[in-house]
Amino acid sequence: MASFNINGQAVTVEADGDTRLLWVLREHLKLTGTKYGCGIGQCGACTVHIDGNATFSCLTPLTAVEGREVTTIEGLVGDDGHPLQRAWVAEEVPQCGYCQSGQIMRAADLLARNPDPSRDEIVTHMSPNICRCGTYPRIVRAIERAAGEGGQ
Ligand code: FES
Ligand code: FES
Repeated sequence: MASFNINGQAVTVEADGDTRLLWVLREHLKLTGTKYGCGIGQCGACTVHIDGNATFSCLTPLTAVEGREVTTIEGLVGDDGHPLQRAWVAEEVPQCGYCQSGQIMRAADLLARNPDPSRDEIVTHMSPNICRCGTYPRIVRAIERAAGEGGQ
């Protein structure tokens, strides 16, 4: 069992402490925007924020989020949209879409720390997140566009 905040709301989840956060999100909390890709920290599809830091939820045991703030793609988007979401639409980034929530969560982590990243900084920061469809150039352009809007 663990109590934590998810997208600003307090929750208590009854599950084995070793249960990975990815499955707590998807199966217990029905937040299915966070995706299962590899389960071993190699693809980034499962990326969420824990206390603002981009983290692989497939590697994070439930016990590790006790008392912490977890943000998923569902919590990133405000009523009028997030600058990254608007930029993703404008640049028509997704192909199959499977990796994209993880990509956006990692991008949001970057812009929160560095509102005006260089192209090299974007590429380096985004490198843990794999896209089998090869949307990397559009991802970079979308992050640059969101940064231009002051996107955090
Ligand atoms: S599912 Fe977590 S890194 Fe691939
Ligand atoms: S859009 Fe298909 S894996 Fe990235």
